[in-house]
Amino acid sequence: MDLIKAMNERKSIRAFKPDPIPRERVEEILRSSIQAPSAINLQPWEFVVVTGEEKDRLSRTLIKAYREKQIGCSPGNVKPLPKTYGKRGAKNLDLMNPFFEEMKVKSDQFTNEGSCNFYGAPVAILLCLDDSFPNARMVDIGIALGYLVLTAHEFGLGTCPIGLITAYEDEIKDLLNIPENKNVVIGVALGYPDWDIPINRFKSPRDHLEKFVRWIE
Ligand SMILES: Cc1cc2nc3c(=O)[nH]c(=O)nc-3n(C[C@H](O)[C@H](O)[C@H](O)COP(=O)(O)O)c2cc1C
Repeated sequence: MDLIKAMNERKSIRAFKPDPIPRERVEEILRSSIQAPSAINLQPWEFVVVTGEEKDRLSRTLIKAYREKQIGCSPGNVKPLPKTYGKRGAKNLDLMNPFFEEMKVKSDQFTNEGSCNFYGAPVAILLCLDDSFPNARMVDIGIALGYLVLTAHEFGLGTCPIGLITAYEDEIKDLLNIPENKNVVIGVALGYPDWDIPINRFKSPRDHLEKFVRWIE
């Protein structure tokens, strides 16, 4: 496996074939994810894997909650974002728009309701964290997520991290009997990409490295 190649190739997939994924394959992906490093090897991640009719039920619940509350994809910042970040988000949307136009869909509706439906993926994975942990342990969950999306890519599967669903955490916990003391940190759509859908041709750009790095020598 060429890790760097996989890292450069991977991208979020926003249209999936309904074909189911064998449970053994999902387990293989999760087994790789839990090789992620974690502080003091606490391995704080917990995965809830939702498939089949239960996944459809979850999607229906989330779409209903979204239509009622209208909390869509947003960075959820606590203060106004410095301009650099706002510009990056706007640029990404600008670059995605031609694909949405080609699909004759509204970008907002496609991404918000699509996220609630895990973009039609047959598998929804929720990454949870016990609420006794400090926020710093989100780092560990993030690394596991990174391992997950790369492993899936290696197997020819597509993923899309879905942060939007955390706005509907109560509804998710109710539906899936997730205990009160577990936080749903992030969801992931997992499935076979449908390459015939235009949005899957979109590859988001990255800013130049110099924009992110300050060398102290
Ligand atoms: C924490 C996190 C939350 C995200 N939430 C969503 C989401 O709710 N809906 C969505 O369509 N994409 C979501 N994404 C995907 C990002 O939009 C995507 O990673 C970003 O635009 C970069 O594109 P790439 O993954 O194709 O490289 C999320 C990504 C991360 C890391």
